Amino acid sequence: MAKSIIITGGAGFIGSHVVRLFVNKYPDYHIINVDKLTYAGNLVNLSDIEGKSNYTFVREDICNYEAIVALMEKYEVDGIIHLAAESHVDRSIRDPFTFARTNVMGTLSLLQAAKTVWDKSPSKYEGKRFYHISTDEVYGALELSNPAGDKDGRGPYGDSFFREETKYNPHSPYSASKASSDHFVRAFHDTYGLPTIVTNCSNNYGPYQFPEKLIPLFINNIRNRKPLPVYGKGENVRDWLYVVDHARAIDVIFHKGTIAETYNIGGFNEWKNIDIIKVVINTVDRLLGRPEGADMDLITHVTDRAGHDLRYAIDSSKLKRELGWEPSLQFEEGIEKTVRWYLDNQEWMDNITSGDYEKYYDEMYSNR
Ligand code: NAD
Ligand code: TYD
Repeated sequence: MAKSIIITGGAGFIGSHVVRLFVNKYPDYHIINVDKLTYAGNLVNLSDIEGKSNYTFVREDICNYEAIVALMEKYEVDGIIHLAAESHVDRSIRDPFTFARTNVMGTLSLLQAAKTVWDKSPSKYEGKRFYHISTDEVYGALELSNPAGDKDGRGPYGDSFFREETKYNPHSPYSASKASSDHFVRAFHDTYGLPTIVTNCSNNYGPYQFPEKLIPLFINNIRNRKPLPVYGKGENVRDWLYVVDHARAIDVIFHKGTIAETYNIGGFNEWKNIDIIKVVINTVDRLLGRPEGADMDLITHVTDRAGHDLRYAIDSSKLKRELGWEPSLQFEEGIEKTVRWYLDNQEWMDNITSGDYEKYYDEMYSNR
């Protein structure tokens, strides 16, 4: 089993939780966090583990094929868990080229590097793993066949789910770039036999998420009594999973998943945007000692996102059936923990919203 593992995008939101889990849980592994530190990368996310002897950080662009080959050779890497990506749909609408570069060409660069290095190894692909982390957004959008919702049902807003065999039908430049990267990963298995696994996960929430995404952005705005920009009517449905549960799933799948398989990861936890926003407002108000719901008037309906997918809902029953994974947290508990974390870590938030964290890295790495 792989023990010298590159985790790409480890300074980002989900990546930092995966790095933390692996570094703490597997002291005999060497975890090499390869991250370019774009606007979304923040090493403060990992300050609790940065001094551990089984952890190494390398600032590198995954598109730099020669550098990735050199790193794989230097550290005798036998596993890759690939999370580095441009991840925000709204940015992809403004700047699709950056998404194609990192998400498509960056993934191809990693695949080719893994193939080149492992082809030369005496054991070739034996004991090696290339695990690609993707999103449910590649499947497109589902119908909202039950707009009123049925909180007793597994799919309260419709009977349809994304399953592993659902046809890809991406709509945004972000999801198109992730779909393309997924195809390249599978092609490297089917053509060269590279030992790959792909997982597609629903929307994550939790600590360390960059505050351009719905939940951290809104928590910060409510705290500062700033408007909450709800796209369109707020009727779009997302399926929310606590980020630590995603990291737990990645651990299980990396170790026990079957090569060439795809696993969907989700929490059977669908929410309309407007409803989740109300829960967040009530929770922030309560934890700040304001009357619950006092900040509802911050809700501001704005122009809808172009091509806004109506509903995502993932069927993760294969993962439960085959590998025994289930979410550990109920949503109420997860959202409470999340709001509390952002309110308790105002310095982390202020460091990002002021842009100070980026200046620090530019100085720190300017001579390299
Ligand atoms: P994020 O934007 O918070 O972090 C991305 C990380 O990748 C950052 O640290 C950034 O510096 C790094 N990075 C970007 N371009 C790079 C490059 N060229 N070379 C090296 N590093 C680079 O993203 P996230 O929300 O943590 O998502 C991580 C992965 O999980 C992505 O592949 C995303 O598609 C997938 N995913 C995210 C969600 C979600 O809800 N956030 C859900 C399902 C899947
Ligand atoms: P987001 O967190 O960007 O994740 P994704 O687009 O990957 O699902 O958005 C979650 C939902 O919230 C999505 O339907 C868009 C909506 N949204 C808003 O209404 N306002 C906002 O300011 C943001 C960032 C998102």
